[in-house]
Amino acid sequence: MPRARLSVNVDHVATLRQARGVDYPDPVEAAAIAEAAGAEGITIHIRVDRRHIQERDVRVMRERVAGKLNLEMSTAEEMVDIALETRPHQVTLVPERAEEVTTEGGLDLTTQMDRIREVAQRLAAGGIATSLFIDPDPEHVRILAAEDRSMLPGFEINTDAYTRVSGAEQDGELERVREAALQGADAGLLVYAGHGLTTANVGPISAIEPIEELNIGHSIVSRAVLVGLHAAVGEILEHMYPGT
Ligand code: PXP
Repeated sequence: MPRARLSVNVDHVATLRQARGVDYPDPVEAAAIAEAAGAEGITIHIRVDRRHIQERDVRVMRERVAGKLNLEMSTAEEMVDIALETRPHQVTLVPERAEEVTTEGGLDLTTQMDRIREVAQRLAAGGIATSLFIDPDPEHVRILAAEDRSMLPGFEINTDAYTRVSGAEQDGELERVREAALQGADAGLLVYAGHGLTTANVGPISAIEPIEELNIGHSIVSRAVLVGLHAAVGEILEHMYPGT
């Protein structure tokens, strides 16, 4: 059975850095650790308000990330310029609202396809593949399936709704993700998924065969803080009392 690749989103390493306005922790270093641990790609979201990832991070990661660099961004003109200048392997277009804490939902392809197509065309001319972040809704997959594959080869299914419920409701949301994945794969699209995935809920999603890649960030960085704290306290103690 083919296994889904993991792309680790390191945005929240940059969130910690920006909280202090210093130069650590460096998301570039985090990306290298994630790749060494088995991630096959790195995902970063450069937001218009630059709350975490900065242009420098995109530039340096483009040079240092060994696997696939996936840049999430809105369709704002400024972002298209950054992508064309830095040339990540893939851009994932996402909706972005200034007030949101994190990406809140998928793109509305029923109203935004013209702008998305224009951006994807320019990115394709720059050698960059475009993926679209969409909710597991057959209407959106159908609209995307009618587009030119050389420009829009794939999409990322928003798993957020699945991660927010439990029991029978979660089974229903899982089914929506599965159906969107099958519909996309049948249409010849590459299928990715992500948002809100944790060790507790990722299993049924990674078992959906057409899903080639999962983008996971917040839960991994959150866990890293806890599993790394023991070592970090030990290190500071060693520097407080050197040689003891
Ligand atoms: N996919 C997309 C399109 C996202 O915007 C995000 C969050 O930046 C993720 C995946 C990762 O979500 P999480 O941080 O909840 O794992």
